[in-house]
Amino acid sequence: MSGSRSSHPFSRRTFLTGLGLGAAGVGAAGAGGLALSSCSTDGSAGGAGGSGGSGGEHTVPFRDVHQAGITTAQQEHLHIVAFDVVTTDREDLRDLLSEWTAMGERMAEGLETTEGGALSDTSADTPSGDPSGVTVPSDTGEALGLTAANLTVTIGFGPSLFDDRFGLSDRRPDELTALPKFPGDQLVEELCDGDIVIQACADDPQVAVHAVRNLTRAGSGVVEVRWSQLGYGRASKTTVDETTPRNLFGFKDGTRNILADETDDLDTHVWCPAESGKGSWMDGGSYMCVRRIRMLLEVWDRQILDDQQHTFARYKGSGAPLGTTDEFDDVPFDLYLGTGGPAIPHDSHVFLAHPDNNDGARMLRRAYNFIEGSDSFGHLSSGLFFIAYVARPSVDFTPVQMALAHKDKMNEYVRYESKAIFACPPGLGDDGADWGTALFDG
Ligand code: HEM
Repeated sequence: MSGSRSSHPFSRRTFLTGLGLGAAGVGAAGAGGLALSSCSTDGSAGGAGGSGGSGGEHTVPFRDVHQAGITTAQQEHLHIVAFDVVTTDREDLRDLLSEWTAMGERMAEGLETTEGGALSDTSADTPSGDPSGVTVPSDTGEALGLTAANLTVTIGFGPSLFDDRFGLSDRRPDELTALPKFPGDQLVEELCDGDIVIQACADDPQVAVHAVRNLTRAGSGVVEVRWSQLGYGRASKTTVDETTPRNLFGFKDGTRNILADETDDLDTHVWCPAESGKGSWMDGGSYMCVRRIRMLLEVWDRQILDDQQHTFARYKGSGAPLGTTDEFDDVPFDLYLGTGGPAIPHDSHVFLAHPDNNDGARMLRRAYNFIEGSDSFGHLSSGLFFIAYVARPSVDFTPVQMALAHKDKMNEYVRYESKAIFACPPGLGDDGADWGTALFDG
């Protein structure tokens, strides 16, 4: 039996079927591994409920008007990576973007990055056993047997990519300007900025890690990792059906986020409007604003409940604005409680971030918690990896962040460690476009 690639064209879905493992075995394969109800044997993405291509169970369409991973119902896990481009060859970069697109599209369907790639060993293909035919597997394999777990892979380009290296300087939209250092920031330079970002979100951490790991591997020689971050437990919500999660301060987070069905607000605050000239490739895209925010939990955990609630101007239990009863009640800026001043303190996070106090600015938040063990003091190395998508950073993000930097009571309990901004182009249509098409050829 030859060991040619075409003789073992399994996808992640078909692999375990071939081994005769049932749903129980799959479930044991990973925390988010979900039962396979049917599996294709032809290497297509059919699997559970699909007829080939995307559309199977636990998949999010890769090609759409906008990139997936922005309004997509927020998955439980994040692996995000920023790269520096190390080649100066425009074509190398262009080719990588094309290769990454093909890999991303396959992974979003629950497939290996290349067909049969995880167990490929071309030595078996060479009749003479010629060792020059040996290659390492092209897929790292840790996602074999897992579903796509709603994986989304979202790409963005940082301002630094638009210097003179790749002939892109006249393509940089005005809004793609490095975020300033905000008052109080304690930035760690190597965690800031980057030429390219890839945000992988999935309901199984192994699937998100697999995506970033394999894209990074394919980029060897063209890009180098600048920083990367794992996040768990979404700390926002992006659709009306999701319950509001809690962040590591124990407060409901995401109550007043822009949601996927709020199309007017999305068009105004999240999706870039049609533009002519150098910014036109971003028509329908969005800017990703990133902050790694360390949360000083040991300090926070010593505060009385009243102080904690004052920090956000919301009740810890219900999430309702202070002075109200329901999580989704309007924030009562005009309400005064006895002689104690306004119900919504003017240094509270919600007062300072609310659109009414920011000329109507709004953003779509997509934050994740992180905990990376403990530091040398025995304190939890923890925080919020804050990601927001906006149409115009200079209107919908920077002024809000500036107001928070100046006055937010929450600043006593956090440390802003990083900043980055990326232009995420619109989604890919069905005409074979790749992640470089709009930027390089549009
Ligand atoms: C550790 C960092 C942060 C924590 C723990 C946090 C927590 C919260 C909480 C509990 C709420 C109230 C519930 C809600 O509406 O979602 C909230 C609201 C909000 N936060 Fe944050 N946040 C953090 C950082 C930021 C940053 C960096 C920004 C933007 C620069 C931001 C922008 C907002 C906005 C726009 C709202 C909604 C305000 C409203 O419309 O009422 N947050 N945040």
